[in-house]
Amino acid sequence: MLNIVVCVSGGGTNLQAIIDGVESGTIRNTNIAGVISNNAGAYALERAQNAGIPAFCVSPKDFSNRREFNEAFLKKLEELNPDLIVLAGFLVILPEKMIQVYRDRIINIHPSLIPSFCGTGYYGLKVHEAALQRGVKITGATVHYVDEGTDTGRIIMQKAVEIQEGDTPEILQRRVMEQAEWIILPKAIDEIAMAHQK
Ligand code: GRF
Repeated sequence: MLNIVVCVSGGGTNLQAIIDGVESGTIRNTNIAGVISNNAGAYALERAQNAGIPAFCVSPKDFSNRREFNEAFLKKLEELNPDLIVLAGFLVILPEKMIQVYRDRIINIHPSLIPSFCGTGYYGLKVHEAALQRGVKITGATVHYVDEGTDTGRIIMQKAVEIQEGDTPEILQRRVMEQAEWIILPKAIDEIAMAHQK
């Protein structure tokens, strides 16, 4: 079994795709050990609770400085003992130590075809705004390993999505989620879990 921890900050639709994948069997050999949010109000935490998955909030707001937050966050991860950490809309700069301790065991979903529209400042709707502004006809999503850089780690899987006449950043964000993110994130986890079994 691949033990995974999913880190979230917001709505958690990617988390939901993972939960559904594990329940339906499209993600094989995988156990969701826990969900960690940096934001107490994240709907993702409710999604985890509804699925009976241990859900935790570790918020920078509850600590007097970054170092203390980082320590608490790393401690929570360690308790959950993940083989793989999945960043699914996690808007926190990772502690350096986390990248060292879990090297090649952290993956992220990014809502564009890397190397387009990625790196510092490209998150959430900003990614889709930039794609529309540049006038590209195709965008998509990328699952990649996390290293010290921003969106620079090895690419695991990508899927293209067409841009349509009249798209707004919100419409495009939704289409990229439906047609790419919710498909390739579960698929990448399944592949890693099957390789883990061997
Ligand atoms: C997704 O667009 C993901 O690619 C990005 O943040 C968003 C998270 O959405 N990094 P959700 O919380 O999974 O609904």
